[in-house]
Amino acid sequence: MELKTLLLVSLLAVLERWLAAGSLHGGSMPGSPLNISTDDSVLQKVVLGAAASFNNQSNDAFLFRPSAIRRAQRQIVRGIRYIVDLDLSRTVCRKRENISDLPSCDFQPAGRLQQTFRCHMEVWLIPWQQQSKTLELLCKL
Ligand SMILES: *[C@@H]1O[C@H](CO)[C@@H](O)[C@H](O)[C@H]1NC(C)=O
Ligand SMILES: *[C@@H]1O[C@H](CO)[C@@H](O)[C@H](O)[C@H]1NC(C)=O
Ligand SMILES: *[C@@H]1O[C@H](CO)[C@@H](O)[C@H](O)[C@H]1NC(C)=O
Repeated sequence: MELKTLLLVSLLAVLERWLAAGSLHGGSMPGSPLNISTDDSVLQKVVLGAAASFNNQSNDAFLFRPSAIRRAQRQIVRGIRYIVDLDLSRTVCRKRENISDLPSCDFQPAGRLQQTFRCHMEVWLIPWQQQSKTLELLCKL
């Protein structure tokens, strides 16, 4: 489907623009945020994008990946806005290794290296303009 391709392109743009701050403009009344399934395929790409951005910005020796999605909402607002609360946990994969498949990295076993960040993210996709904007990615221990 055409839309799917556009969203993929948009998500690549997400990675490139992750650090750019953004804000929602527009005066029209938005729809309410509605809960969506954590299996949603676009949501899955959005959270992997969040992990990639987190890993790019962190000084950690290991890669982190999503370990839980605690809230997933979608809002139609001149595009599609995803509002997600997720956990990112440290894996056993070292950053300098050439990891082609982050989701296959195991989490750290219980112990000194086990660590999980709680993150809140908001991403705005505008499929028909092939645009996306990260409005927020905030993580804390
Ligand atoms: C990683 O971060 C650098 C700057 O900190 C940025 O230039 C680059 O685009 C980022 N890469 C990705 C894939 O987000
Ligand atoms: C939406 O999901 C949140 C978190 O999972 C939950 O607390 C809330 O009750 C849900 N709301 C509805 C309307 O299902
Ligand atoms: C990393 O993997 C990619 C594709 O799997 C390959 O093209 C690239 O040369 C590799 N880089 C290093 C530094 O091994």
